Amino acid sequence: MDYSFCGNSGLQLPKISLGLWHNFGEVDDFANARKMILHAFDNGITHFDLANNYGPPPGSAESNFGKILSSDLKAYRDHLIISSKAGHEMWSGPYGDGASRKSLMASINQSLKRTGLEYFDIFYSHRYDFQTPIEETVQALIDIVKQGKALYIGLSKYPAKEAEKAYEILAEQHVPCLVYQDKYNMFHRFPEEEHFDLNEEQGVGFVAFSPLAQGLLTDKYLNGIPDNSRAANVHGFLKKEDVTIEIVNKVKELNQIAKKRGQTLAEMALAWVLNHKGVTSVIVGTSSVDQLDDNLGVLKNSSFTEKELHDIGKII
Ligand SMILES: NC(=O)c1ccc[n+]([C@@H]2O[C@H](COP(=O)([O-])OP(=O)(O)OC[C@H]3O[C@@H](n4cnc5c(N)ncnc54)[C@H](OP(=O)(O)O)[C@@H]3O)[C@@H](O)[C@H]2O)c1
Repeated sequence: MDYSFCGNSGLQLPKISLGLWHNFGEVDDFANARKMILHAFDNGITHFDLANNYGPPPGSAESNFGKILSSDLKAYRDHLIISSKAGHEMWSGPYGDGASRKSLMASINQSLKRTGLEYFDIFYSHRYDFQTPIEETVQALIDIVKQGKALYIGLSKYPAKEAEKAYEILAEQHVPCLVYQDKYNMFHRFPEEEHFDLNEEQGVGFVAFSPLAQGLLTDKYLNGIPDNSRAANVHGFLKKEDVTIEIVNKVKELNQIAKKRGQTLAEMALAWVLNHKGVTSVIVGTSSVDQLDDNLGVLKNSSFTEKELHDIGKII
């Protein structure tokens, strides 16, 4: 595994991290979830990304991760970077959603209990809620660190203006924002508009989620929608209607380039994300150990020629 420093900090993150959004909940195969987590760790993936609402049902990915930690990884707590988040709907009523102090404080206590952890390495505000004053959210994050419940703070899915304001307040209070997390892949390049420059200026790392566009940027959908795919799964966030003819045609062309490079499309899609100098780590999701191995293969070839980048650019 390769590791790189996260922004202007002393913390190194693996180039490939593992996310537990899908496939680690109570509805999923626990033995498979355990195998993927242990295989990831055995291959140098030290960073596991959670959120309060991952499941389904919400909370069950944290509970399952807690079980695996306790049965298999207890001795390795200091080898691990475990993140969680609060900000999307988790429980009913006005306090189970959003970025208020009430919600963040209650949620981190619940997440610590479910995972059995004493502290998270990184705790995120999962989204900007367009209502809570940024000062309130940021003060709650600072207090979470001061209470010893998290070592570092992160933000996810914040508009650049609000992220900048939050970074400034956090820096003034000597709890700098470690990392910003957003969607970044060949089909979704929004962070290139403002966030990469802002993060570089402010010394904040960037971790990319859904680097494979939830599986679209793999060979999975080249010949239709397989039964064992996220798009076919009732619990999947990706919908069948997201697998459009336009997307599949682009994926077919990208697959040809990947073949010429001697790698799978998943490897090439991850390499493309990692090729951006602003990206610290990509958080992949997987439904099997084989997929994880495929994705780890990116580390063998993650550089591009100018011509390849140009050809990919034309397709995407
Ligand atoms: N901050 C946020 O708001 C936010 C939002 C979303 C995600 N995240 C984080 O980012 C993580 C990753 O997101 P994601 O799951 O959307 O990532 P992704 O890597 O884009 O998609 C993962 C899915 O793609 C398929 N796949 C993965 N590798 C494959 C391969 N080599 N060949 C064929 N198919 C492959 C699998 O789906 P199948 O089931 O079809 O096999 C897998 O579950 C999440 O777990 C979470 O930690 C954060």
